[in-house]
Amino acid sequence: GIKIATIGGGSSYTPELVEGFINRYDELPIRELWLVDIEAGKEKLEIVGNLAKRMIKKADLPIDVHLTLDREEALRDADFVTTQFRVGLLEARAKDERIPLKYDVLGQETNGPGGLFKGLRTIPVILDICKDMERLCPNAWLINFTNPAGMVTEAVLRYSNIKKVVGLCNVPIGLEMGIAKLLDVDHSRIHIDFAGLNHMVFGLDVYVDGVSVRNKVINLLTDPENTSFVKNIEGQGWEPAFIRSLGVLTCPYHNYYYKSRDMVEKTKKEAAEKGTRAEVVLRLEKELFELYKDPELTIKPPQLEERGGAYYSDAAVRLINSIYNDKRDIQPVNTRNNGAIASLPNDSAVEVSCVITKDGPKPITVGDLPVAVRGLVQQIKSFERISAEAAVTGNYDTAVLALTINPLTPSDTVAKQIVDEMMEAHKEHLPQF
Ligand code: NAD
Ligand code: G6P
Ligand code: MN
Repeated sequence: GIKIATIGGGSSYTPELVEGFINRYDELPIRELWLVDIEAGKEKLEIVGNLAKRMIKKADLPIDVHLTLDREEALRDADFVTTQFRVGLLEARAKDERIPLKYDVLGQETNGPGGLFKGLRTIPVILDICKDMERLCPNAWLINFTNPAGMVTEAVLRYSNIKKVVGLCNVPIGLEMGIAKLLDVDHSRIHIDFAGLNHMVFGLDVYVDGVSVRNKVINLLTDPENTSFVKNIEGQGWEPAFIRSLGVLTCPYHNYYYKSRDMVEKTKKEAAEKGTRAEVVLRLEKELFELYKDPELTIKPPQLEERGGAYYSDAAVRLINSIYNDKRDIQPVNTRNNGAIASLPNDSAVEVSCVITKDGPKPITVGDLPVAVRGLVQQIKSFERISAEAAVTGNYDTAVLALTINPLTPSDTVAKQIVDEMMEAHKEHLPQF
């Protein structure tokens, strides 16, 4: 049987994952699921872990769920390690979202200064986990969901000895589901060729039953109603002239780059009216954990769909399933480029459609990205690489450099000011500086 270790097991997303394992149990016989958390997450781990146990009991499956604060016993002889932790908890995310707004810069958990600082807090922890894996489960696959997933995967590829790593995001699958709905066809008939980076991914083409419907879908993306693909980013709608000439499908995170000024204003307004997204999520999470406590509850409650990570379990479990069973189907994941996208370094993490084999994802060759998007993608990759370097070395100048070259930052001086304020605000989670 398979042993899974899930780090950050107290996450409210855990019932999603458990539902996914239950649904695919016939193909993917999991015997042990170890949910690991830290002292600060003990109560959440207890509540969500007990729900997981009830869900499995209800499904009448022989999966043992273990709850632990001891990462070592969880990792020992694991086959798959999934990571969904948040260093500094949602309080740290709220700071990432709020502080940059004072400087009229976007405050968001994976983009701009927030993405940099989430990376600086997270990368030392993931590299520690990698060291433990070398010792305790050297053959395991690391399936990382922890944001910023692109930067974190980059850091693992570049600074650890773990080669079997895949970064995962629900945005590509969310786009496929969303477009299926817009076209009113079953999602199994939709295929998108994805290429780019995490939260900077493009759909180079989109097919129904193998026939391209790209122009039709591109025209749909001009309507705000049609572009709410994830719960945490409202649909906006593109200028028809822009999206038609861009010629590829965007993802919701592109709003921050192609509508940067509007998105800063919108984020500021929302922060003032209802709090930042972290503050909204804190309230949502309270409700969710109240529901999870109910001893009668034996399913994933539909209220979880208010979180941005919908379909995460589908993405994670179908990936694990395809690796375990050597399925050789196509899935978009974050993996080592290996030349698939010509305009990016071979040894960098890219988000791209891959054939998923028992030896991991094999990226499908893309060649050069269209000239209109190539430069931005390269710039964000440079930002991720330099941010990862800053996280590992603890070099202050490197952190200022990373933020200055980010396209959402207006100047070197503003970058320095934001880095200073955020370093101070987050200092307990940045021991390397
Ligand atoms: P959360 O705040 O509920 O954190 C999850 C758990 O991690 C908590 O129980 C916390 O106690 C625990 N934790 C914190 N530090 C830890 C450590 N060092 N070791 C082990 N556990 C630790 O977070 P969430 O909202 O459930 O999100 C979890 C993570 O998944 C975040 O990093 C988030 O950005 C990411 N996420 C990614 C995607 C994606 O598309 N890749 C989608 C949604 C969420
Ligand atoms: C998804 C993204 C995640 C992100 C999450 C936020 O769109 O793919 O990477 O972290 O939503 O959701 P939340 O509910 O925490 O705001
Ligand atoms: Mn994501």
